[in-house]
Amino acid sequence: MNEKTFKITNQESGKDLGLERKDAVLGPSVVDITALYREQGVFTYDPGFGATACCSSTITYIDGEQGVLMYRGYPIEQLAAHSTYIEVAYLLMYGELPTQEELTGFDQSIRNHTMLNESFLRFFNGFDHDAHPMAMVSGIVACMSAFYHDSTDIQDAAHRDVFAHRIIAKIPTIAAAAFKHSLKQPFVYPKNELDYCSNLLHMLFSVPTGSYEVDPIAAEALNLLFILHADHEQNCSTSTVRLAGSSGTNPYSAISAGISALWGPAHGGANEAVINMLEEVGSSENITQYVAKAKDKNDPFRLMGFGHRVYKNHDPRATIIRKMCHRVLEKLGREQDTPLFELALELEQIALKDSYFIEKNLYPNVDFYSGIIYQALGIPKSMFTVMFAIARTVGWVAQWREMVRDPETRIGRPRQRYIGPAERNYIPITNR
Ligand code: ACO
Repeated sequence: MNEKTFKITNQESGKDLGLERKDAVLGPSVVDITALYREQGVFTYDPGFGATACCSSTITYIDGEQGVLMYRGYPIEQLAAHSTYIEVAYLLMYGELPTQEELTGFDQSIRNHTMLNESFLRFFNGFDHDAHPMAMVSGIVACMSAFYHDSTDIQDAAHRDVFAHRIIAKIPTIAAAAFKHSLKQPFVYPKNELDYCSNLLHMLFSVPTGSYEVDPIAAEALNLLFILHADHEQNCSTSTVRLAGSSGTNPYSAISAGISALWGPAHGGANEAVINMLEEVGSSENITQYVAKAKDKNDPFRLMGFGHRVYKNHDPRATIIRKMCHRVLEKLGREQDTPLFELALELEQIALKDSYFIEKNLYPNVDFYSGIIYQALGIPKSMFTVMFAIARTVGWVAQWREMVRDPETRIGRPRQRYIGPAERNYIPITNR
């Protein structure tokens, strides 16, 4: 990479602040502020890290102003049109599109790691059947470190590879087992002749007593959703994986931390929140009232599925998924799903013309539509964020691998601005 560096000086005193600017291949340069505290005795202050780059990365690029998303330089629109989730997984992990031979080998390895150690299945019985599947999935993934001692030496490249293949292969099996447990149905074992998304559908929906045919449009929709959700640079859950991983913890624990971070309604939980919101809105005549609520500063209500920290023009994933949403509903939509989608489209149009949303650059994000597709596939709301977690696992793994190999990695340890009491003396309890 052509990386220029130059000094930034204090314009008043002319003093060299000792801060270096480092250019990026695409997007904003960064100012390396590691010398700031040493030279000037101050920290930077950036709640929510809106202006802070925490690493250099070669994986994903986003231009929020232009609505651009690229994995390893390939535009998301091209990957969505031509690729498969497994090929994208390879690309994210290894940096290049695979040759046919590499793809076959990778695909085969993932298929061969799908089965869970039988003891895992016993863990599920410790949960009540009404346990949220995200709680089960994050717990079970953390437990994997107790079973796979042969792949937790993070300094060993072979261990890192085995870990990566295992977690990518097993996360659908874990997710499906959580779903089956919540239905009080028997677990369904993976079928390795099926591709990644068809296998997941098989484990979610087949029962031992009957036959089950995977619907090709359902597999195609999942494949697309998974490509779109596979990585999104330093978002909340990915940063959590990197931060947890920076302590050198075993990678299963780091991924489990990411799953927990994803669960929140401001992040991966939004797809579930969108359907709840649409059900609450109920019908067209209530839209104005809910849009007014979203605009009211004194009302905590927000339009779920609207707005994004980075995309301030449009979310390119939302544009792609909106088309798929139409196709899925045409082919698979149950009667009750269509009104919800029509309500979503109406809400979208009203909000897009409203000055509040225009001025604040609030556009529908990917999750505005993903929940409607999942619902049409027969996946219940409580599983929506789990589906997101399955897709994002490869992104977390790729980012974690990059972090472990980066010589600049140090344990993540943000600083703070202290605004509590100044020093004071202890008062015995009898005098308080
Ligand atoms: N509805 C109404 N107003 C909103 C919304 C919304 N969905 N989103 C942001 N705003 C308003 C805020 O009230 C704020 O107004 P103010 O400047 O008058 O105080 C302004 O827009 C900026 O919002 P912030 O919360 O400061 O923006 P931030 O970048 O921190 O948040 C976020 C982004 C969390 C995505 C936010 O837009 C939101 O809560 N959206 C709804 C939840 C959602 O859809 N999340 C999914 C994100 S995509 C993903 O994780 C895959």
